[in-house]
Amino acid sequence: MIATSAFDLDLPVYEPDGLSRADRMAHLASIRSEHWLARSPLGFAVMRHSDIVSVLRDRRFHSALSLLPQMQGLPEESIEKRRPSILSMEGDEHARVRRLVAPAFTPAAANRLRPFMDEVIAELLDGIAASGSCDFVAAVCEPYPIPIICELLGAPRQDWELFSRWATDIFRIFNQNLAEDLPAVQRAGAELETYVSELVDRRRSDPSDDLLSVLIAAEEAGDRLSTDELVMLAEAVLMAGTDTTRNQLGCSVALLLTFPEQWKALVADPGLAARAVDETMRYLGAVQGTIRVASEDIVYRDVMFPRGTLVSCALSTGNRDPHFVDDPETFDITRESTGPHLTFGSGIHYCLGAHLARAELQAALGLLATRFPDLALDGDVEWKPETFGIWGPSRLPVLWTT
Ligand code: HEM
Repeated sequence: MIATSAFDLDLPVYEPDGLSRADRMAHLASIRSEHWLARSPLGFAVMRHSDIVSVLRDRRFHSALSLLPQMQGLPEESIEKRRPSILSMEGDEHARVRRLVAPAFTPAAANRLRPFMDEVIAELLDGIAASGSCDFVAAVCEPYPIPIICELLGAPRQDWELFSRWATDIFRIFNQNLAEDLPAVQRAGAELETYVSELVDRRRSDPSDDLLSVLIAAEEAGDRLSTDELVMLAEAVLMAGTDTTRNQLGCSVALLLTFPEQWKALVADPGLAARAVDETMRYLGAVQGTIRVASEDIVYRDVMFPRGTLVSCALSTGNRDPHFVDDPETFDITRESTGPHLTFGSGIHYCLGAHLARAELQAALGLLATRFPDLALDGDVEWKPETFGIWGPSRLPVLWTT
């Protein structure tokens, strides 16, 4: 049987323009029940949990991250070619790097950083405790992940500010204004590269127990990571591990306070923090979707996706698929385990920092519920525009009794 090209199918069309977030979610849910595949502004979209997992696990679909500049209308020749990131590598090259770095991202490795996370979040909450109200995004979510990534990498405290600036500038790549932002993105990348190369040199002669030292040791234990690859990994960790975590913390807190009975359940039992993290990530994930490109002509479910076709994976819609979870529209932090939600992705690019991110979020939610039991919203939550990238509240006004 010759498979029909996706372009020749009569499919539901996903048209997000002008829709509020609630209407967009409803539109996506209605498409999900109608068909497993939809046309989308970029190409096609899958939104059922099982299809998203299948596409993300299918090695013929490659990460489309390196196409982001072109998707934002920049001609290819305007983009300085940089080394490939783990996020956009594929095949044997990706498998090799992933094998080398995986031992540094185990649950045990994340647990080692828990005391440091507790310290960082305690310090941030101490800083706001007396005020009785704040914008939680600016006061806590924004500053929280940088020290942890710096501690992970082994960068000293006096350099946290530098990392914060580099992360902000590198993240402009997602702002959909790359024509203007590209110089700042490239400058930050170059500065980070110089910094990490020097740090790698120092760690080679004076190893410590940080990530870079562990990765250098992995290099020396047989298979080798080059300095270039170490720099790439440091950049990937900074890119993938800061804005995601800060936005997810914002999403999780906003959601818990929007459902005060759920917040009360967490206050009554802070031991629910681990479940609260996964249920908030399922219900309101900071990474709403990711994109793949067909690396060859691919037949999937009897449909042909010609080489170069873009397929969006609607992670947030898959997380509310009734075939994945019972009663998906109910937010319930006491829910028994549902199986893996999609907010950390799936397949070979599954989030390398998932254990670390869970630990960070658990530390924050647990201490927040203990320290500010009557925390409540102090007005409307303001949300970032939903672009390609990472999403969450831009302003989260909260208050509590001092
Ligand atoms: C709540 C926080 C986080 C969320 C929601 C998140 C989400 C994701 C997702 C969805 C992917 C896969 C992207 C794709 O398939 O296109 C990913 C990959 C990745 N994440 Fe995370 N992430 C988080 C935190 C972190 C942290 C803390 C780190 C590092 C310390 C990290 C490091 C990475 C890396 C290196 C990859 C690429 C893995 C690969 O391509 O093999 N992430 N993350």
